[in-house]
Amino acid sequence: MAAEALHVLARVRISGNTPSLSALAALLRLLFCSGEVRAAWNVFEEMATRGPRPSLAIFNAMILGLCHRGMLRAGSGLLGVMEKKFGIIPDVVSYNILIKGHCVFGWSGDAFKLFKEMCSSGCEPTVVMYNILVDVLCHEGRMVEARRLFDEMAQVGIKENTITFNVLIDGYAKTGRMDEARAAYREMKVRGLVPDSCTFNILAAGAYKFGHAAQSIHDHEIFGSQLPADSLDVLVCRLCWDGRLDDAWELLRGAIEQGVPVSVAGFNALIAAYSKEGLHEVAFELYRIMKKLGLAPSTHTFNYLIMGLCNQGRLDEAQLILEHMVSKGYCLRTSFTIYLVTIYLDASFREGDAVRALKCWDDMEKIGLQPDFIAFSAYVNGLCRLDYVNEAYQAFAEMTTRGLEPNNITYNSIISAFCRAGNMSEALKLQQNMRQSGLVPDVYTRNILIDGLCRQGNLKMVDSLLLDMCSNGLIPDTVTYNTIINAYCRSQDMNGAMNFMNKMFAAGCEPDIFTYNIWMHSLCSNHMLNQAGKVLDELVTRGCPPNSVTYNTFMDGICSDVLNRAMILTGRLIKMAFQPNTITLNVFLSHFCKQGFGKRALMWAEKLREDSFVFDDDTRNIIDWAQREMEKDPQVNNEDTDRCLFLEFLMFMTYETMHNNRSSEARHVLADKGFDPGSSNMIKILDTG
Ligand SMILES: *[C@@H]1O[C@H](CO)[C@@H](O)[C@H](O)[C@H]1NC(C)=O
Ligand SMILES: *[C@@H]1O[C@H](CO)[C@@H](O)[C@H](O)[C@H]1NC(C)=O
Ligand SMILES: *[C@@H]1O[C@H](CO)[C@@H](O)[C@H](O)[C@H]1NC(C)=O
Repeated sequence: MAAEALHVLARVRISGNTPSLSALAALLRLLFCSGEVRAAWNVFEEMATRGPRPSLAIFNAMILGLCHRGMLRAGSGLLGVMEKKFGIIPDVVSYNILIKGHCVFGWSGDAFKLFKEMCSSGCEPTVVMYNILVDVLCHEGRMVEARRLFDEMAQVGIKENTITFNVLIDGYAKTGRMDEARAAYREMKVRGLVPDSCTFNILAAGAYKFGHAAQSIHDHEIFGSQLPADSLDVLVCRLCWDGRLDDAWELLRGAIEQGVPVSVAGFNALIAAYSKEGLHEVAFELYRIMKKLGLAPSTHTFNYLIMGLCNQGRLDEAQLILEHMVSKGYCLRTSFTIYLVTIYLDASFREGDAVRALKCWDDMEKIGLQPDFIAFSAYVNGLCRLDYVNEAYQAFAEMTTRGLEPNNITYNSIISAFCRAGNMSEALKLQQNMRQSGLVPDVYTRNILIDGLCRQGNLKMVDSLLLDMCSNGLIPDTVTYNTIINAYCRSQDMNGAMNFMNKMFAAGCEPDIFTYNIWMHSLCSNHMLNQAGKVLDELVTRGCPPNSVTYNTFMDGICSDVLNRAMILTGRLIKMAFQPNTITLNVFLSHFCKQGFGKRALMWAEKLREDSFVFDDDTRNIIDWAQREMEKDPQVNNEDTDRCLFLEFLMFMTYETMHNNRSSEARHVLADKGFDPGSSNMIKILDTG
């Protein structure tokens, strides 16, 4: 990342352009984050000599980076440099960063010196700065001084915020002065500040640590009357709800250390929360601790662990837990266990691991678990998704014989699988069955069937299915029409396609960009370029903007069109601000080959590769094709220089556009992540107290 950014910077410099300040600030941050302090210095020094002149934001980015890397002296040094050498007055952000840095590294004496220096320089301190300083005093246990500094804020006219109070309350709580903590809490409310979950946590954690658990839980003044029960579990759950997982864990750990009885419910809440966050290592650690404490995990514990693992596709571990559950005889043959196995089964299908899924299904029967409706549905859907049609059909039949009625989702997925496998007679039969069992095939079912019939070119049957659909009150949608129009276009029946276009309009169904692209494609492949041009106009007047597929299709048509008309149409495309992409390049490369200019294709491919343009599989296939053609007959060459020049012109224009776009994109990426000292992120960094 950092290396690429430096590379971009070098290119900008070589091209004689001046990089923007915000891009440079972003680059500095990136370099510091990746630990490239030396490189950051170089960028900074280069700015001093070659411009652009470092701004306040640049200095702040440098100071922040240096402080994060513990280079406090260098950071302080810059403070002098910016003023004396560059005439830039450090602002409160510069001081905030430096003061915070000194506090973090335990140099609170210097932090206060900086604070004095700043005040005497006429720079106004902010609440953020006071929060930092109160926090460092609290951390050092200097509560009296902390309180004095806190009171000073009111004297200089700075209003405390919730963070200030949290810092102070935390200081009191950590030093065991719960009464003063509570008093500060009351004061906070009197001043109209709303305590947040952080405040709550500080008080709760403090209360446990100092053995006031029962008292503080009953302390409605603190926790509000909405706290329904009086247990540790409730507190843990509540912290989990607030997303303060580490605090919840700390609270639980504190309780364990204090010998306060803990229950499975608290652990389960935490395991659930950590699993949901994808932090299964922590979840597992909790599971181990709870077992060590002699607490028997419940099925819910396993549930959360397995769900977390399945969500992450860690199926081996999920399997181990399932096996453990079975071996320990956990609630075997309960619907809950079936549910857990189903989650695992479904995850196996989603990972595309049919072998694992099939084994799971067999094992389920072996250990005597009777799959229920949900398990069967997951099994059938999964098999269908991976195109195991025969197995799916068997399971589907088995499901019915066991009296578990498939629903519309099961039907749709099996019908869809049969359609994909080209077994339309079975698909249609299943649709009949579906109706007979009282389920209504919906538009989705019909679209699957129509698509299947279209793929087979059975357009007659499509007509009757469509009629049937309408008589059953199912209104064909855009997908239906697109599928049919596409089928007509593919079978070169332009009249049939037009007929359905008209039907679509008549039914009040708006064609979308897919419809137009299908239409565009068939016009172009039938060399009806004038009509294709009209479609482009129609799109614009209908307020349905052409996309890159439309343009590329049209471009492809143009390339093989009569030269005179092709030039006029190209002019129109340029006016429409056509944004080319890799596919556009493929269009030209393949036309070079098709039209006997294989050498040019190879030459352009080389140039594009040198400029690290993105190639896709098609690009590579076209290049291979050109190479084979050239090897077969190195002399082959089309003598039509006009045509060659035309393709060259199109290729060059596209190349230029894409090249410029890439450079400006690169600049945008950097600028977007520009350094903004006033941004909330910055405040967060400073206010981690
Ligand atoms: C299945 O049918 C129900 C009720 O008839 C409907 O709400 C649901 O959207 C249908 N689902 C699918 C995928 O067709
Ligand atoms: C369609 O599927 C059914 C059920 O699996 C099977 O009996 C039939 O032979 C299949 N037909 C074709 C043409 O594959
Ligand atoms: C660059 O191209 C992309 C699409 O390929 C487009 O979204 C973007 O707006 C273009 N950027 C510029 C600066 O033209």
